[in-house]
Amino acid sequence: MNNGKQNKTVFTIFGGTGDLTYRKLLPAFYNLFSLFKMPQDFEILILGRKDYTTESYIEVIKPWLKKFTRTNYRDEVFERMSEHLRYLVVNFTEEKDYSLIKDVYDQWGGIQQRLYYLAVAPQFFAPIAFSLKKSGILDEKHSHQVMIEKPFGVDITSAQILHQQMCQAFDDDSIYRIDHYLGKEMIQNIMSVRFNNTLFEGIWNNHQIDNIQISALETVGVENRGAYYDQTGALKDMVQNHLFQILSIVGMEKPLDGSAQAIQSEQVKVLDALIPIKRGKLNEHLVLGQYTKGTSSDIAVKGYLEEENIHTDSTTETYVAMKLFIDTPRLSGVPIYIRTGKRCDRRSTEVAIQFKAPKGVLPNLLIIKIYPDEGIYLRFNAKKPGTTPEVVPVFMDFCQSCVYENRINTPEAYERLIEAAFKKDKALFTSWPQVLASWRFIDHLIDRIKEEKMIVYPYPAGQSGPSESDEMLRREERHWIDEEHG
Ligand SMILES: NC(=O)c1ccc[n+]([C@@H]2O[C@H](COP(=O)([O-])OP(=O)(O)OC[C@H]3O[C@@H](n4cnc5c(N)ncnc54)[C@H](OP(=O)(O)O)[C@@H]3O)[C@@H](O)[C@H]2O)c1
Repeated sequence: MNNGKQNKTVFTIFGGTGDLTYRKLLPAFYNLFSLFKMPQDFEILILGRKDYTTESYIEVIKPWLKKFTRTNYRDEVFERMSEHLRYLVVNFTEEKDYSLIKDVYDQWGGIQQRLYYLAVAPQFFAPIAFSLKKSGILDEKHSHQVMIEKPFGVDITSAQILHQQMCQAFDDDSIYRIDHYLGKEMIQNIMSVRFNNTLFEGIWNNHQIDNIQISALETVGVENRGAYYDQTGALKDMVQNHLFQILSIVGMEKPLDGSAQAIQSEQVKVLDALIPIKRGKLNEHLVLGQYTKGTSSDIAVKGYLEEENIHTDSTTETYVAMKLFIDTPRLSGVPIYIRTGKRCDRRSTEVAIQFKAPKGVLPNLLIIKIYPDEGIYLRFNAKKPGTTPEVVPVFMDFCQSCVYENRINTPEAYERLIEAAFKKDKALFTSWPQVLASWRFIDHLIDRIKEEKMIVYPYPAGQSGPSESDEMLRREERHWIDEEHG
């Protein structure tokens, strides 16, 4: 593949009339364009089956951009960006249609850096890659990168098959696997906070940390993804990818440098060090739940089994709470509690580090708030003002997203990921060894769950999950931490 100097960057979106393209990708391109962050010479080729012309497609996307751009929408910016857009009617399962795509690339000429964004269902990843190769599009003259989004397989075997198929068209270095959590500001900030503060990094170990908690709670249900979700469940939809990304960053050693290779290799070491849950011990480590009808923001909502496209007797989990250990010198013996759930009482993604405490006072607490609030909360102990020596907990609360300037300077995840991709920075993407290590753990766990016929506990929509999840921590004289209750 060509590594020389390119004179044009060409983005090609497969699935150009889909939800991901309208709500995330095109607004991300608009934001980058309006902030002068796009490559100097670029084109965006949008592929779809619908019978649009470039002009009619531009009219279709305008309202989406007005609604979803982060930066102020301006007609004149949109018009300038539209000069770089081209819509092409293509059925991507028809090999003959790839000659139409090739014709457009040939018309643009020069040496191109081509990025193929597959905003399509995963079963199309390999067929598209294969057709791109067969059509001669992936030639040596230009450079080629492909961007795909999870799920990367539904288990380790299917992930390996997908990987082998993709690698017949692209070398692994050209495959950019998106986990949009890695594009979130505060996930990147975990590394900065850890490695740039002796205050934290000096005590980031099993001598000082009592437990770590990673939570990703949502108030929404399965929305219109019922058919997909019922086959998937929270373990595969959230834990295997997003939560394990966070876990690996929280647990890793300082990378040798800021390169993708150095960061990802430290992350993989953490995933490889996850201790599998022993036979017969599942109930001590894992709680599965499924929401029943309840209320969300004071509105009555359906239970999971009444949602569209869900089997009426489904046992798919919409909630997972887990206690994990990693076998590394730094954190061995420290319980890492993770939880994720749909239709919970709040929307919140955060990491909490609870430190060991001297007798009689509350433990120090560090909370890294990832979403929707972004910031850092630190609780420590101080003397109560007055004449008594009483010690009371006090806190510092740095709300990054409360500052207008921070908000407007913080890119959306997809914006950051697209920019990283055309700059060929793979640090924000998931490496193949990471995919492999996380599936290995989850596959083993799912086998155990089936073997031990684990109960999936019901919880009413609008609550924080099944009470068994609280009980798992209570047995160890701990509780789930959040800012209000910490
Ligand atoms: N939506 C999100 O926010 C989101 C977030 C994360 C990940 N994802 C993932 O991204 C992928 C796409 O999601 P989505 O929500 O955008 O799905 P979607 O709305 O169903 O869009 C799929 C797109 O693929 C096109 N398509 C399907 N078969 C085609 C064919 N043979 N030839 C040409 N075009 C074809 C559809 O075109 P037609 O309009 O002609 O049907 C549509 O543009 C999925 O794998 C999803 O899991 C989505």
